[in-house]
Amino acid sequence: MVQKIRIIDAKDHVDEEVKIGVWLTDKRSSGKISFLQLRDGSAFFQGVVVKSQVSEEVFETAKGLHQENSFYVTGVIHEDSRSHFGYEIEVSDIEVVCESEGYPITPKEHGVDFLLDNRHLWLRSKRPFAIMQIRNEMIRATYEFFNQEGFIKIDPPILTGSAPEGTTELFHIEYFDNDAYLSQSGQLYMEAGAQAFGKVFSFGPVFRAEKSKTRRHLTEFWMIEPEMAFTNQAESLEVQEKYIAYLVQSVIDNCEYPLHLLDRDIETLKKYTKLPYPRLSYDDAIKMLQAAGYETKWGDDFGAPEETYISDQFEQPVFVMNYPKAIKPFYMKPDPTRDDVYLCADLLAPEGYGEIIGGSERETDYETLKQQIQAAGLDEKEYEWYLDLRRYGSTPHSGFGLGFERAITWICHLDHLREAIPFPRMINRIYP
Ligand code: 4AD
Ligand code: MG
Repeated sequence: MVQKIRIIDAKDHVDEEVKIGVWLTDKRSSGKISFLQLRDGSAFFQGVVVKSQVSEEVFETAKGLHQENSFYVTGVIHEDSRSHFGYEIEVSDIEVVCESEGYPITPKEHGVDFLLDNRHLWLRSKRPFAIMQIRNEMIRATYEFFNQEGFIKIDPPILTGSAPEGTTELFHIEYFDNDAYLSQSGQLYMEAGAQAFGKVFSFGPVFRAEKSKTRRHLTEFWMIEPEMAFTNQAESLEVQEKYIAYLVQSVIDNCEYPLHLLDRDIETLKKYTKLPYPRLSYDDAIKMLQAAGYETKWGDDFGAPEETYISDQFEQPVFVMNYPKAIKPFYMKPDPTRDDVYLCADLLAPEGYGEIIGGSERETDYETLKQQIQAAGLDEKEYEWYLDLRRYGSTPHSGFGLGFERAITWICHLDHLREAIPFPRMINRIYP
């Protein structure tokens, strides 16, 4: 019996006869030889069918294959120094599984709207393949990192009655006779988790009714939200930079082939594994922008151009620290040395990718937090449970949220977040 393998394991089967389930991505034939471009879900590679080596029937079958036909190939694995992947199969037999005629995504260039309409098929192409491999590695590395650091994973609810990040971007749903919302952040629940388990992290989908069409916003995206008891903001920043460097290093170590498919420069990525990352106060960021001719005033939030300008002044990701209270949510702890800023930071990615992390130290004092809830115009009743965390054994604690697709978009060097998630959801897209 010929062994069934996946081509990613080819190095263990050189010069052996194997069987692989594949799809055809492209083909070139002459009278004497057919070159089949194949994928088996684990890599893209070539199959060679030589007329003089196979039966008439096999050669004719090869010539008649269409793009995305599924079939089994049987043959001998050879090293192939001309392709980056490094292996090919010399085909001796073909067993067709399913026909495919008129596959819409041909090897020519297609517009992105067409590709998104066909996302269920587009996922088969090289570029989405490479991005999803890197996404998967970042998922793996995230679990590994936080487990090594002694965190446990806690899953916050997705159906919620409260709005930690402000009420404008909520998806409202009917919940029997009540109102509910899709979670925009699990943070408040992670704070409960931190007081129970010390160090916790979540990794799940969050939802924001983003009405703007930008390259940086999805309506459904994934967030990693660690939360740590007995931890101040400075200590939290150290965890953040260590985590980001770990993600980048894991992708460098384990995604050489996907990075090659995306043409991503590894030397650039290596710069992001050097710690510490620079820290810049919001005040100094404003001065930096004003010196460069921006009209930004103290108290303004940064838009994409400001974030890009700031990050362009650094070789690594940069923490912008201590933003004005008015532009950040109610749960943050004010700077004890001054009244107008919070102990918080956003991490801006290099190469113009903007904010990938938002985090802060949390307010721990019952009365102050209650006032901040009132001042934010929120319904105190809905935050009774959250205030309980300050009634019973409150501790200094800090946490952060990494926007997962933002991080992927930066590490893969993509133009738009929509390519960083298998099925993107945006204001004008909920199909397929
Ligand atoms: O800065 P944000 O709003 O922070 C929070 O939600 C905190 N509760 C996190 C925490 O401290 N536990 O969102 C966190 C990150 C942002 O830095 C950004 O990377 C990403 O989430 N993000 C989005 N990503 C994709 N599409 C959107 N619409 C996003 N909005 C925010
Ligand atoms: Mg933010």
